[in-house]
This record gives sequence, C-alpha cells and structure tokens, in this order.
Amino acid sequence: MTSTEPSLRRLANDQVRALASAVGLGTPQVAEELVTELLGVAGTHPLCTPPHWQSDISDDQTPVEFSIAFDTAGNPTLRMLGAPVARPGDGQVAAALRLLATWADRYQLSLDRFEAVRELFLPPNAQGFGLWFSVIFRPEPEFKVYLDPNARGGAQAPALVAHALRVLGLAPAHPVIAHHALARPQDRFAFFALDLHAGAQARVKVYVAHHEAGAEVAERACLAVPGVDPEQVSAFCRTVGGPLPFTTRPLISSYSFSDPGSAVPDNYSLYVPVREAVADDEVTLNRLRTVLREQGLRPDVLEQALRGIARRPLAEGVGMIPHVSLRTGSTRQGLTVYLSTEAFHTTPARSRTGHHSHA
Ligand code: TRP
Repeated sequence: MTSTEPSLRRLANDQVRALASAVGLGTPQVAEELVTELLGVAGTHPLCTPPHWQSDISDDQTPVEFSIAFDTAGNPTLRMLGAPVARPGDGQVAAALRLLATWADRYQLSLDRFEAVRELFLPPNAQGFGLWFSVIFRPEPEFKVYLDPNARGGAQAPALVAHALRVLGLAPAHPVIAHHALARPQDRFAFFALDLHAGAQARVKVYVAHHEAGAEVAERACLAVPGVDPEQVSAFCRTVGGPLPFTTRPLISSYSFSDPGSAVPDNYSLYVPVREAVADDEVTLNRLRTVLREQGLRPDVLEQALRGIARRPLAEGVGMIPHVSLRTGSTRQGLTVYLSTEAFHTTPARSRTGHHSHA
C-alpha cells in the first residue's frame, strides 16, 4: 500500500501507537503486530472505499475497536476487540480459527474451555456474528474469545447458554442471571466470552443486552453480584447516558466468573451506548470528565488518547466514543472507555439543543 492511499492497517497502526503512548505501554511493536494480524485481509483495504464485509464491531464496519480500561487508581490498560474478516469464498469463523491457532501457539493459550463449548456455539451454518477476539496489551498479551448465544437462533439462546455454563461447571449461574437480567422480553443474551489463559483467574463472561431500557434495569441486573452498590450503577448510567431510557441501542450487562469453584459472579459491568444519548463526542468527554473527577481521577490520559486517534474535532461527530462501561464487584473494578477508529465513516453531530441530545 502506498502512502498516497492509506489503508485500514496503516490507520489502525497509527492509532494503536498513539494509544500505546497515551497509556504508557512499553511495547507498541507487539500491539501493532497484533492489530495487523487481527485485521488480516481487511488491513489492505483503502480508507477511501467502503468496506465489502459486514462487521458488528463498529458502526462503520471497521472490524476492530480499541478501549482503555482504567482501574480505580486511574491506571490505564489498552485493549482491542475485533472480528477477523474472511477472504472471498471463506467463512468468518474459519478465518478466526486460523488466527486463534497462530496465537494459541505463540502465546501458549489455553483452549480447553473453548474446545469444551465450541460446537455448541459454532454449529455448521451458525447464525450470528461468528467468532470475535479481544486482546489486552500487557507485557504478556491476554486474549479472550467471544461466542454468539444466538448462533442457533434467538429462541435457542437461553438453552444454549445454560448448556455451556453446565459444561463449564457453572450450572447454578443460569437461574441467577435469568432472575436479575432476563426479567423483561427485551432482555436477551448477547455474548459469551472466555479468557484464553490457564490459571485461577481465567474468566467466563456472560453478556445480556437490555433493549429499551433505562437505569432501573441495570440497577436490578447488578444485584446478582454480591457487594455491588445499585445506586453507583444507576448513577453512572444517568451521568454518562442522561436521564432518558435508551431506545435505539441496548444497555448491556455482563457477569464475570473467575473463581473456578464458584458459580457466583464476582463482577458486574454495565455498558452504556453513550453515542445514542449525546449530540457529539465533546459532550461525552465532558460527562467522562465529571465521572473521573467524582472518582478523584484526572482526564489527561483519556484526552491524550482522543487527540491521538481523532481525525476531526470532537464536536463534529458522534461515536468516536461508542460505549462507556463501569466495572463493579470484587475484581477488576473501574471504568472503560471504548474508542472507534472511524476509519470509514463518522456519524454527524446532532443539534445540542435537540430534544434527544440532552447535552
Ligand atoms: N458494536 C456492537 C455494539 O455496539 C458490539 C460492541 C462492540 C460492543 N464494542 C462493544 C458492545 C462494547 C458493548 C460494549 O453493540
């Protein structure tokens, strides 16, 4: 690819380098290599041409999304979520499995739990998104695989998740999740994720999408995790997302199980689709400044990260920050900010005085 026709790979690598610098990551070359591998055939695609693939990772079909997770002391960790793109004539899952084999080999990943549930989620002619990965850029990178509970159709999702939890020794978790998070017909399983490392802290994560939901749905959902303060969860939801219920995109809950001997979730996270609830990304940043200040944290890292990836003023579009999440419970508490590449498209800003923007 020549420099006159920038590729997705080039943009994503420039962005990951800028983000690595913002979070103080010492090994940007490893991050760049992993981004390049995750993009695969999509990497050479020129930015001036719309993508020929479908990917639900980002609103503009970019198959990778970055995020910065802050712990309660404000220490940042850089991550990415992505979906390998298939070559013509190939399947998305096949492309993803090839990449998984490469990474498993190089990083000695533990595939035991993935192997135990893969045929449940990846039947021939599976429906849904296929197979996604996330990577945490630590000195030794950490990997997670995302499976689709709707792979056998939406009606089968509860049974599929129940089955997978049983296989993983977490059978009692299902009724607890169902009671707290699946109380309404608009509540549906969205993702099923597994950490791919061996060891006691390897997690199983179950995600539920709450369509047409407001803060009170999250308040109920979080009660499945001992010790979580429902008022903290709903206050976060309202500070970031505003007072109105979400109508076009779901609020998402996740439960994480990291104690192999226990089916009690130790973490609840709430993902707020903030891009639905603001006029533009500057409004989102201002709300995040408020949240960080309340926690005694400074916004510098986030501001530097946004400067590093932005190719436009924050006020001139909406969705560079698609989601913001709060992590609560006894492990991994903190705040995560998701960052879109906007490689192919920027959603125009809405009017700040408009009725839906509540800026
Ligand atoms: N783009 C999808 C969505 O908005 C999936 C997704 C990507 C997502 N990153 C996410 C969902 C972060 C929740 C949180 O739903």
